[in-house]
Amino acid sequence: MTDDYLVELQDIHKVFTTRHLLPVDEETRKRRLFKKRDVYAANNVSFGIRRGEVFGLLGPNGAGKTTMVKMISGLVRPDKGQALVDGLNVDKKRKQVLRKVGVVLEGTRTSIWPLTPLENLIYYGMLKDVRGKLLRQRAHDLLDFIGLKDKKNVQVRRLSRGQKQKLAICIALIADPQVLLLDEPSTGLDVQSSRAIKDRIMEMTRDHGRCVLVTTHDMHVAQELCDHIGIINHGKLIACKPTEALLDVFSEQVFVFRTDKAPTVAPFAEIPGVVRADLEQGMDGPALVVHLVPELEARSAALYAVTRQLEHADVRLRAIAQRQQNLENVFLRLTAESDLAESQ
Ligand SMILES: Nc1ncnc2c1ncn2[C@@H]1O[C@H](COP(=O)(O)OP(=O)(O)OP(=O)(O)O)[C@@H](O)[C@H]1O
Ligand SMILES: [Mg+2]
Repeated sequence: MTDDYLVELQDIHKVFTTRHLLPVDEETRKRRLFKKRDVYAANNVSFGIRRGEVFGLLGPNGAGKTTMVKMISGLVRPDKGQALVDGLNVDKKRKQVLRKVGVVLEGTRTSIWPLTPLENLIYYGMLKDVRGKLLRQRAHDLLDFIGLKDKKNVQVRRLSRGQKQKLAICIALIADPQVLLLDEPSTGLDVQSSRAIKDRIMEMTRDHGRCVLVTTHDMHVAQELCDHIGIINHGKLIACKPTEALLDVFSEQVFVFRTDKAPTVAPFAEIPGVVRADLEQGMDGPALVVHLVPELEARSAALYAVTRQLEHADVRLRAIAQRQQNLENVFLRLTAESDLAESQ
C-alpha cells in the first residue's frame, strides 16, 4: 500500500455469468433453454486515488464502472485481488471501511420513502454514529446546500426524481466521509444543484483532503472536475492518467483548413508528417482536417506542403485553425482502439 492512496484497487477481477435466452422454437417453449456467457466486469484492474484528489472513472455502458464502485463500498466481492480504503481491506474490515465511505449508486433507492428527507438524514447519520446536535446541524446544512430546504418535511415518495437524487447525495455526505463515491451523480439534476455539488467536491478534496471517485458519461464534467481519469472498457482499464496528460495522449496536432470547395483527400494523406487527413462538411462549407506529427520541423514542413497542395488543386483557402484536443475525442479514440484490439 502506498501511503498517500486513500483508495486502492489491486489486480481486481470480477466475472459475472449471464444467461442468454436462446431463440424461441417449439423445443425451448417447453424447456426454457439458456446459454451461459461470462462477462468481465473487471479484468485485472489496479489504480489508486490519493487524498485531495477527484478521480473520474469513464467508460461505455456495461464497461464495469458501477461494479467498481460497488467493490470499493463492499457491495460486490471481487473474484481476485483486493480493494483497500485507507489501507483497510474492504472485505475483511467491512465495518470500519463503511464508516469512511459515502456512496451514491446510480438508480438505486437509497432513501426511505415514507420518511421525510430530514428523517432520512437523521436515520442514516445515526447508523454511522453521528449523533445529537452535530447530526441535526449537518442535516440542515446539507439540505440547505443542495436546495431541499423547503422539502425537508415532505415524505420522500412525494419528491421528484431529481429531488430524490439530491437526497441520496446528502445521505452519502451525512457522516462527512473520507471517501465519496458518486456513480453518475448528476443524473436528473438541475444546473444549480450540479454546480453546488461540483463546488462541494472541490471543497472536500482541496480543503479537507478527502477523495472523490465519480463515474460519468459527461465528458465536460469529467474534464472540468477530475484531477485524474481512468477509462474502462469491457472491464479493462485502458488508460489511467492525470487529466492533462490524458488530453495529450494523442500528441499529434489537428489543423482545420476551411476551403471554398472540397479537395480530394488522398494526396494530403501522402504528405510526410501527415498522420491522417479527413474531409468534413461543416455549416460554412467544406474543411480539410489534417492530423500532424508533433515534431516542430516535420510539422512545419507538412503545413507548408498542405497549403501548396491546396493551391495546386486550385482550392481557395478561407481559414486555418488549430483544433484543441478534448476529452470526448480522446475517450472515443481510446475506446475504439481497444474495441479493435479486442476483436482481433
Ligand atoms: N449482478 C449482475 N449479474 C450479472 N451481470 C452483471 C451484474 N452486474 C453487472 N453485470 C454485468 O457486468 C458488466 C458491467 O456492469 P456495470 O453495471 O458495472 O457497468 P457500467 O460501466 O456501470 O455501465 P453503465 O454506464 O451502463 O452504468 C455489464 O456487462 C453487466 O451486464
Ligand atoms: Mg453504471
